[in-house]
Amino acid sequence: MNRFLSIATAAALCLGAGTAFAQTQGKLKVGFMLPYTGTFAALGTAIENGFRLYADENGGKIGGREIEFVKVDDESEPSKATDNVNKLIKRDNVDVIVGTVHSGVALAMAKAAKESNTLLIVPNAGADAVTGPMCAPNIFRTSFSNWQPAYAMGLVAAEKQKHKTAVTLTWKYAAGDESVRGFKEGFESKGGKVLKELSVPFPNVEFQALLTEIAAMKPDAVYVFFAGGGAVKFVKDYAAAGLKDRIPLYGAGFLTDGTLEAQGEAANGLLTTLHYADDLGNPKDKVFRTNYAKTYKLQPDVYAVQGYDAAQLLATGLAAAKGDFSKRDVVVKAMETAKVDSPRGAFTMSTSHNPIQDIYLRKVEGKVNRNIGLAAKALADPARGCKL
Ligand code: PHB
Repeated sequence: MNRFLSIATAAALCLGAGTAFAQTQGKLKVGFMLPYTGTFAALGTAIENGFRLYADENGGKIGGREIEFVKVDDESEPSKATDNVNKLIKRDNVDVIVGTVHSGVALAMAKAAKESNTLLIVPNAGADAVTGPMCAPNIFRTSFSNWQPAYAMGLVAAEKQKHKTAVTLTWKYAAGDESVRGFKEGFESKGGKVLKELSVPFPNVEFQALLTEIAAMKPDAVYVFFAGGGAVKFVKDYAAAGLKDRIPLYGAGFLTDGTLEAQGEAANGLLTTLHYADDLGNPKDKVFRTNYAKTYKLQPDVYAVQGYDAAQLLATGLAAAKGDFSKRDVVVKAMETAKVDSPRGAFTMSTSHNPIQDIYLRKVEGKVNRNIGLAAKALADPARGCKL
C-alpha cells in the first residue's frame, strides 16, 4: 500500500513538473493592441513590424520562447479601450500586452493592466501618467513621455533659435495637452512666452481658421503636436497658407516621422526634436535599417524602433528567467535594469520604467530627418506622481 502510495505520489509529482515544464516551453502569448485603422494606422503597423523583426532575427523567438500573436485594432478610440484591452486579458488570456499609440487609449490599458497584473509594454503612447501617477511594476514604456521631446524643443526654440514668443497648436487630448505643457515649460524657463494655446478636437484636420488666427498674431514661432495622417495634412496646409517662410514651425518629431514621403516639399527644412533620427549611423541602427527595409520594403521610423525595442526589452526579461514567464519578479527585475541596445542609441529605464534617452534636434532634408545636434542629453521624464 505504502509502496503504491509513493508511486502515486511520484507520478503526481512528475505530472506537476511536466506541466510546469510545458508552461515554460509553450508559446508565449503576446497581444498587440494597436491602431490598424484611422489617422495612426501606419504607426501601429510600424510598431508591429519592428516587434516582429526582432523575433525574425532570433529564429522566431523572444528570449528563447516561441511566440503566439493575437491582435486587436483599438482604432485610437478611448471609448472602446477598456472593452478592447479586456478582449486580450480576459478572452485571449495573453501573457504580455504590447500597445498602444494613442495616449487616451493607453491610459485605459494601463488601468486594466494594473488591476489584472498583466505585463504591459507601451511602444508609443506618451501619456505622462503611465510612468507618473499610474506607474506600476508591470508597466514599461519603450518610447517616450509626451514631456520629453516637447520640453527639449522648448529649450531649443528659446536658447538656440532665440525666439521670444510662440503660439502652440495641437489636437485636444492628453498627448497634445502634455506636449504643449512640456514645450511651454522648456520655452518659458529660458525667457520665452507662449502667447496662445490653440487646439482642434482629435482627429480633426480642419486647420484653416486657426492658421488665419496664427497669421494675424504673428508670433516668433509656432509649436505643434500632430502625428500620422493628421501631421501630413497639417504640414501641407501650413505651407499652402504661405506661413512656412513667415513664421518658423517646430514640433515634437512625430510631425515629420514616417510622413515625409506624403508631405513632400512642404516638410523640407522643418526642425523637430525626437529620440530618433534617420541618419544616426551607429552600428545597431545600420543593421536595423537594412533589415527593416529588406523585410518590409519600407524605411523604418521612430515607431518601428519603439516596437523593436519593446521586443528587445521583453527578451531581456525572459532570458533572465530562462524563458520561465512565471518567474515574474526575475523578468521585471531584468527589464528594470536592462540596457537596451536600441537603434536610437543605448538607453536605460528610469525608476518609473520610462527610457532615459538623448533627444536629437533634427532637420528635414528631402526624405530624411537628419540629426543636427543634441537637444537634450540623457533626458529623464520627471515622473511626477510615480511611487515605485
Ligand atoms: C500619443 O497619443 O501619445 C501619441 C500619438 C502619436 C504620436 C505620439 C504620441 O506620434
